[in-house]
Amino acid sequence: MHKKLRVGLVGYGKAGQAVANILSSDPRFELCWIARRSNQSYVQTHPGTDIHIISIDQQSYGELFERHPVDAVVDFSVRTSIHAYGEEVRKRGIMLVSAISAYTESDLEYARNLGKDTRVLCSPNITLGINFLIFAAKLLRKIAPFADVEILEQHFREKPEISGTARKIAEKLEVGGERITSLRLGGIVGHHEVIFGFPYQTVRLIHDSIKREAFGTGAAFALAQLANCGNGFFTFDDLLLQLMQAELMQQR
Ligand SMILES: NC(=O)c1ccc[n+]([C@@H]2O[C@H](COP(=O)([O-])OP(=O)(O)OC[C@H]3O[C@@H](n4cnc5c(N)ncnc54)[C@H](OP(=O)(O)O)[C@@H]3O)[C@@H](O)[C@H]2O)c1
Repeated sequence: MHKKLRVGLVGYGKAGQAVANILSSDPRFELCWIARRSNQSYVQTHPGTDIHIISIDQQSYGELFERHPVDAVVDFSVRTSIHAYGEEVRKRGIMLVSAISAYTESDLEYARNLGKDTRVLCSPNITLGINFLIFAAKLLRKIAPFADVEILEQHFREKPEISGTARKIAEKLEVGGERITSLRLGGIVGHHEVIFGFPYQTVRLIHDSIKREAFGTGAAFALAQLANCGNGFFTFDDLLLQLMQAELMQQR
């Protein structure tokens, strides 16, 4: 990327604020604006920057893109937003990185359709580390299908349900939910571990979440990779695969 990619961020909640911290300090990007639902008159710019936080209740995405053009939209808001900005993104060829975890099948169908006219990435789990862990674990599972597999997840004491990421790992490795062990301890942000038991050795793949800013690092990675792609609908796996293939070709 030679010139900075102009980015608009939709959603300024727990995740969006951390993502704004990363995107606003990454020299590859110019975070042009942040959109949220409500009009919080006491905060008008992202702390330490002059990036404006706009209420989407007060203007349409068409007006927003017209007044403040961007090359990419990053979405950390709600599942309905894609239907509000989708046609504007399509018309203008703006690339989209959506981290929304709760899309329905028909939302995803719409996102795939947008991919006919622009570049779209949807990732219900956008951290680079977890995506790499799943990728590596799938590879080892294929190479060594005879090894036992256990998944260990540890989270803060108050988290009631089994981690969605652990269930996703189990699904990708084609093992049942009974292979997941959950521990609830103090203030652990998020720990996922895949353990492969071989007859004479053990392999452990471990990911520890430290801060929500990891979502921003993942979004930044996705933006940079997507900028090198043609129009289409992509998953995080697709982007990782492209990089790994290029890396393996170099090693040959
Ligand atoms: N893929 C991943 O790895 C990942 C990780 C974390 C979060 N997420 C996803 O990111 C989203 C936000 O999570 P969160 O924990 O940050 O939630 P949150 O704290 O509830 O924040 C939601 C944000 O969306 C805004 N919003 C709500 N309705 C909107 C609309 N119609 N248009 C524009 N903005 C709207 C809210 O605006 P107000 O502030 O004005 O209320 C708020 O800023 C969720 O969908 C979650 O699944 C994904």
